[in-house]
Amino acid sequence: MAAAYEYEVHEYDVVVVGAGGAGLRATLGMAEQGLRTACISKVFPTRSHTVAAQGGIAASLGNMGPDSWQWHMYDTVKGSDWLGDTDAMEYLAREAPKAVYELEHYGVPFSRTEEGKIYQRPFGGHTTEFGEGPPVQRTCAAADRTGHAILHTLYGQSLKQQAEFYIEYFAIDLIMSDDGVCTGVVCWKLDDGTMHVFNAKMVVLATGGYGRAYFSATSAHTCTGDGGGMVARAGLALQDMEFVQFHPTGIYGSGCLITEGARGEGGYLTNSEGERFMERYAPHYKDLAPRDYVSRCMTMEIREGRGVGKDGDHIHLHLNHLPAEALAERLPGISESAKIFAGVDVTKEPIPVLPTVHYNMGGIPTNYWGEVLNPTADNPTATVPGLMAVGEAGCASVHGANRLGSNSLIDLVVFGRAAAIRAGQVVDPTKANPTLNKAAVQKAFDRFDGLRYAQGGTPTAELRLEMQKTMQRDAAVFRTAETMKDGVEAMTAIAGKLNDLHVTDTSLVWNSDLMETLELTNLMPNALATIVGAEARHESRGAHAHEDHPTRDDENWRVHSVMRVDGNNVDLTYRPVIVDPLTTEGEGGISLETIAPKARTF
Ligand code: FUM
Repeated sequence: MAAAYEYEVHEYDVVVVGAGGAGLRATLGMAEQGLRTACISKVFPTRSHTVAAQGGIAASLGNMGPDSWQWHMYDTVKGSDWLGDTDAMEYLAREAPKAVYELEHYGVPFSRTEEGKIYQRPFGGHTTEFGEGPPVQRTCAAADRTGHAILHTLYGQSLKQQAEFYIEYFAIDLIMSDDGVCTGVVCWKLDDGTMHVFNAKMVVLATGGYGRAYFSATSAHTCTGDGGGMVARAGLALQDMEFVQFHPTGIYGSGCLITEGARGEGGYLTNSEGERFMERYAPHYKDLAPRDYVSRCMTMEIREGRGVGKDGDHIHLHLNHLPAEALAERLPGISESAKIFAGVDVTKEPIPVLPTVHYNMGGIPTNYWGEVLNPTADNPTATVPGLMAVGEAGCASVHGANRLGSNSLIDLVVFGRAAAIRAGQVVDPTKANPTLNKAAVQKAFDRFDGLRYAQGGTPTAELRLEMQKTMQRDAAVFRTAETMKDGVEAMTAIAGKLNDLHVTDTSLVWNSDLMETLELTNLMPNALATIVGAEARHESRGAHAHEDHPTRDDENWRVHSVMRVDGNNVDLTYRPVIVDPLTTEGEGGISLETIAPKARTF
């Protein structure tokens, strides 16, 4: 029998789902153009996970020395291990300075140089002279609380532009028309149990990553891949999910982030012999090599018996040689985190750290305007009308197989802004909104109701833990054919148990049991696509380090994975990487020869 829920209908030109950096930048840009814009968030906007972003935002401002967008683009191409889409990577690097100056003018309180310019610090993989020169200071910082500063500023500016916020609303499912147009989203208001249907000309998914598919992650507990889950249920694709970034310096035990900015300010890693081992692996960039590489080196040191601690299972990060005043000025947040979560005074002792899940390079495929793709064999860049995805939820793809540190915050604002620019071109505010597809709304309520009254044998928390432990074990920093085969088998069985969930609380007001169950149904397709994509990719590239196929294979594998998840089945196909930049060398762009694939050395 169909579930009966009353609901309120809200009409907008644009509905943005998620209020992190990308969601707020999109919301602000939409509202600035006079589009009637709603932003829906399951948490208060300034509690979105962007608040935890520490080290900074990359843009070639050249405040601390020579820099150019072409060098930034080259580093991003190389960082992606040649899996990123070249048009999107050019767009990111070229638009980055504009996007950062806009943030400055909106009021982001950046740290300053003596001359009053935005302060920039070195970050891993950011270099000069197309990788031939020394590291560059490209990462614009507000101490080590850059995400916090950006989020608060964008929220204030969005309110000023009359964007309307629906706070603590949980998005259950997309509303798709019968001919494949996205026309809105169905939501549950967490604090009073009422139901809401948002009808709009454009829906923007800015729901963040799915770090919580793993047991230990720097991501907030809210990072449950809600956009990817909704997209999968709508029969649409996910892309490049096998590429999961491990940040080298999560605090051992708690997983809390210690920013790469710590190494940018002069911090370094040591093993049990007190050796600065990164000098051996990356003679040129040392501790500032890209994250995938540093994480692998740390793991190798531990495996070879040179880990620190009584179990020899982690690494030390030293800041204790840096002046206490510099730590207080540039790294106050992580000094506090180290004290709280590791009991360490950073002015005196090293911090115990371990590579920790941090970021999803994969996500919902989009072009560089944020329009969601529905790739087919005939048309690999076909778009889904009415649907955009930005930020970590999306995959433009600028990060390819590995993201450079501080390219995430810039991705949020560049592509949040791009989505707003594009919406300004394609959304006509004088037109009536699409007719509501009541059958699609009912389908969402039926799914919701089925979970609300689920009386199977598996509690949500138990199944979630099983998924997290499996992902942690079988889709780790290093992967083998055997562990991934085991992982696919285990995750297929675990995903199958979504039909056997047990929900205890059936109320509608502040029901965390039900909300976590809905989140689990979002995490699961993301997790399953990750392990299936990883098992199938027979090469090593970026964050995907396959021990049985240790080298990159451009001839066969310079392709994006495209996965469609239905229950516990994943249909896996591939689409070509976009290799052409937006501008030619003659137009001031970067030459094809410069960005041609080559060995990635540091
Ligand atoms: O290390 C950090 O501050 C993280 C930055 C990032 O992921 O871009």
